[in-house]
Amino acid sequence: VWRPEPGFLASLPNLKLILSLGAGVDHLLGDPQLPRHLPIVRLVDPHMTDAMSEYVVLQVLRLHRRDLDYRAQQEAGVWRELDQKNAVERRVGILGLGELGQDAAKKLKALGFDVAGWRRSEKTVTGLRCHAGAAGLPLLLGRSEILVCLLPLTAETEGILNSSTLALLPRGAALVNAARGAHLVEEHLLAALASGQISAAVLDVFREEPLPADHPFWHHPCIVLTPHVAAFTNPVTAAPIILDNIRRFEEGRPLLNRVDPARGY
Ligand code: NAP
Ligand code: GLV
Repeated sequence: VWRPEPGFLASLPNLKLILSLGAGVDHLLGDPQLPRHLPIVRLVDPHMTDAMSEYVVLQVLRLHRRDLDYRAQQEAGVWRELDQKNAVERRVGILGLGELGQDAAKKLKALGFDVAGWRRSEKTVTGLRCHAGAAGLPLLLGRSEILVCLLPLTAETEGILNSSTLALLPRGAALVNAARGAHLVEEHLLAALASGQISAAVLDVFREEPLPADHPFWHHPCIVLTPHVAAFTNPVTAAPIILDNIRRFEEGRPLLNRVDPARGY
């Protein structure tokens, strides 16, 4: 399932296993009648991970190379060189160092960026500066000229991109949110853009999708938006992965990518 109607899964008396067609399971776990005693697995597809990293690399490069400024100059017919840092001087921070965050970090590092990440647990990732938990968040934010959100949406992470956290970023920082719309307090981003605290944002996900036609993000000069396409579920590559988990279940072998409903991801 991807987004079953709340209560639908509870109405199936012979249900034994719930397989999410997406990497994120916030829609599923938000169902108050979800049969939480049943095993739930989410989709982890290396091709989907590659696709997310393509998106993150594309958008980080766009921000790093001042693509929005050059677009604006082109529209105004202006020929002007803008200051440009080297990638090694550009500090990128990644919220969430799971399947997607770790791969994006690795690929950004390969391009030379100065990358650090943030996660819940104290686990380290070889070659990557990692911060953890509530104490680690200000450390990650304080150094992130480009902040990329790849967190799951949980009770703890909802609204994590808000006026207080955006204020901890270096002045003029940029944001990429490819996780879930509810991570961002949208009005706080608009205020941070208006004050210059944030210089630009690239958003793939929104509190309401499709984004309403009258939403201020549509025509904001400092916002690039895409319609929740950073990493699609590809049936061709996802089907064998899902099948493998069904076989594992039928044979009593351990399931892959099991969700912990108490943790929320
Ligand atoms: P994942 O493997 O479960 O990784 C989640 C990461 O977030 C982990 O590093 C985890 O920390 C960290 N985390 C969770 N709660 C936290 C908290 N309260 N504080 C600090 N760190 C926390 O998930 P994933 O496969 O990378 O996917 C991440 C999300 O991307 C999905 O949930 C989905 O919402 C989104 N997504 C979006 C698209 C799109 O097209 N836009 C496509 C696919 C996925 P630990 O490592 O310590 O557990
Ligand atoms: C897409 O947003 C997913 O969670 O797979």
